[in-house]
Amino acid sequence: MSTFFIRTATPRDMAAVSELLAETWQATYGAIYDAERVAEITGMWHTEKALRARLGQPDSEFLVADDGTRLGGMAFARAASDDRTLLVLHHLYVRPDAQGQGVGTDLFSEIAGCFPQATRIRVEVEEANDKAVGFYVGLGFARVGTSDGGIGLPALVFERPLGAFDA
Ligand SMILES: CC(C)(COP(=O)(O)OP(=O)(O)OC[C@H]1O[C@@H](n2cnc3c(N)ncnc32)[C@H](O)[C@@H]1OP(=O)(O)O)[C@@H](O)C(=O)NCCC(=O)NCCS
Repeated sequence: MSTFFIRTATPRDMAAVSELLAETWQATYGAIYDAERVAEITGMWHTEKALRARLGQPDSEFLVADDGTRLGGMAFARAASDDRTLLVLHHLYVRPDAQGQGVGTDLFSEIAGCFPQATRIRVEVEEANDKAVGFYVGLGFARVGTSDGGIGLPALVFERPLGAFDA
């Protein structure tokens, strides 16, 4: 049972989210890619400035898991289609020492529930990331294809339906 509660992110969280992502990316992808490549990617995507630009994007939601003293995880999702039926989960990261306590599941449930018009949710997962693949399969996701990950990092594409009783 985790002590983290889920809330909407604010601009003041972005420095802590940036630090959380740097730590979690090194722990997750440092073994898959070299540390330099991971640092390069986090330096592009996960700066405070880049994260602030995501806050308040139309049809998106940015959540953090907070225990009152620090952030344990974050999630960002955005509707991908004009009719808002397809939701894309762009980020879901839980700090290594907060993993395995239900924080990821809580973030997922909360963010999925923020998009009542969505009927499907999609996520891309690095193939070698067994933990994340196990997590999403456990949540009912099924593999629907592959992707180049946008920047040449190949990924598996997973989807699952969303419905009134899912959140
Ligand atoms: C993947 C991640 C988001 C899961 O969050 P979490 O808080 O650790 O997950 P939870 O505690 O909510 O676990 C929920 C379920 O996931 C599955 N799961 C978790 N860790 C797992 C592992 N190592 N192997 C297989 N399944 C796993 C289990 O089914 C678990 O349910 P259970 O506790 O009843 O067994 C988190 O581990 C993480 O951030 N990892 C690093 C970053 C990452 O890979 N993010 C996803 C990028 S797409």
